[in-house]
Amino acid sequence: MDSVRTERLIVDGYDEVYRLEIGGAVAFVALHAVLAGRSFGGIRIRQYSTEADALGDALALSRAMSRKVVLAGIRGGGGKSVIMEPGVGVDRAASVRALGLFIEELGGRYCCGPDMGFTRADDDALRSATQYVACEGMSAATAQGVLTAMRHVAGPVERVAIQGLGAVGQPLAEILSDSGVDVVACDVRPVTDFEAVPAADIFDVECDVFAPCAVGGVLNATTIPRLRCRLVCGGANNPVATDEDVIRLHERGIQYVPDIISNAGATVVGASTALKEPHLIEARLAAIGPLAEEVCRKATEAGLPSHEVALQIADDRIHELRAEGL
Ligand code: NAI
Repeated sequence: MDSVRTERLIVDGYDEVYRLEIGGAVAFVALHAVLAGRSFGGIRIRQYSTEADALGDALALSRAMSRKVVLAGIRGGGGKSVIMEPGVGVDRAASVRALGLFIEELGGRYCCGPDMGFTRADDDALRSATQYVACEGMSAATAQGVLTAMRHVAGPVERVAIQGLGAVGQPLAEILSDSGVDVVACDVRPVTDFEAVPAADIFDVECDVFAPCAVGGVLNATTIPRLRCRLVCGGANNPVATDEDVIRLHERGIQYVPDIISNAGATVVGASTALKEPHLIEARLAAIGPLAEEVCRKATEAGLPSHEVALQIADDRIHELRAEGL
């Protein structure tokens, strides 16, 4: 029997937050906004130094998901689960199953999916306990969203530098290359299919677009001055390290498509499938481009970083949906 001990936490600005003891592990489930009776967001499994760090991550990620979901035109909000990586001797599958049972009890208010550290085995354990799991194979849609955002904001491009050739970066590189664009790429693994540069040198590549498709926080006070592109648009979550770095990009005149817009493809597919709206997937993916363009244009007109404009549009939308009683 998979045991769950649940404690409801009251956090200002969040609809539902829980601390769970699932088998031998601790997890937090944060539903930032349950709009139209549902929220969407993945399950992250990683090491955290303290429970406060894990809770902080769940809160920040679930708020970002609300923004991503509403910007993608989906009537729903955002949530996120984090499991503090179980130590040796803990039955990880039992812990994940226990989280699944809890998600099932939420009755559809939260539909989950994979995030960092969530393995195929975790997916099997989760699906044995809950029906509220997004479909698989969404990375190609993320690449498609990045591409449409890039094309709308940058116009014709000749050369794109891609950091990370994984589930998102590889299909992105292939589509660009097939359409005649020069792709320069790096990875911590050997790059064979494209012009390669060492991972440390990717920021110095002269190109139209720098596409971060690896880890977060790569654009910072050290790397931003080195960029030789006119646009940053990629799949990575939080590629710009801090708010100051968003301004740094802006001051260098480099446009940035906020990650909550450019990498929304997987959210579009997962949420649309869960809502039984598969017929809307293509239109929602296609809408990522015009939205990216609109946000960047408004930012230029107002002299503001695009990130700020995107957050404002998203938060207004969340507010409207709440006001409609959704
Ligand atoms: P992945 O794990 O399949 O690929 C990441 C790639 O980056 C790997 O090939 C890895 O070797 C490489 N890499 C890691 N550190 C690097 C470094 N310092 N320099 C160069 N390459 C490095 O991950 P995936 O799924 O492609 O995701 C990439 C990013 O996009 C992540 O930040 C993820 O959170 C984000 N994302 C992914 C979505 C998806 O649909 N897969 C959806 C939304 C966001």
